[in-house]
Amino acid sequence: MIKVLFVCLGNICRSPMAEAVFRQLVNEAGLEHKVQIDSAATSSWEHGNPVHPGTRNELSKVGITNFDNMYSRPLNDNDLTADYIIGMDKSNINNIKRFIGNRPSGEVRMLLEYAGEDREITDPWYTEKFDVTYRDILKGCTALLEKIKNDLQ
Ligand code: 4NP
Repeated sequence: MIKVLFVCLGNICRSPMAEAVFRQLVNEAGLEHKVQIDSAATSSWEHGNPVHPGTRNELSKVGITNFDNMYSRPLNDNDLTADYIIGMDKSNINNIKRFIGNRPSGEVRMLLEYAGEDREITDPWYTEKFDVTYRDILKGCTALLEKIKNDLQ
């Protein structure tokens, strides 16, 4: 089992979008029994809150409508067992690394690094451009799936 954890600041816009998009890609590849997917926040600001309506609206356009059991939660110690701990921007990466400290953990990277780009996923909480965020998340998740398919070979 490969464990993937997507992380952002609030866990209501970007990381749940990545979680839902990646779950769809993994399901389409028939790998749902081999890849476990979750998401979390670097803050407790939105703890317990559901997925942002902007993320739901954007994903409904590509047929993703199920957000059951998706509520914001902060990173916890158990998350260190994930093989991939994937942040959306540099601030997420700094916060994730500070949380991990010198403990062992999986690989910590920004999502678009898997697509060969040293670039952040912009935060639609501020930009309100959920479509731009979706396109970048799809690009990163598509590249991540190729990497994980390699791991599973
Ligand atoms: P996210 O966006 O990190 O993509 O979930 C945000 C959500 C909430 C806040 C900031 C960013 N906030 O300030 O509450």
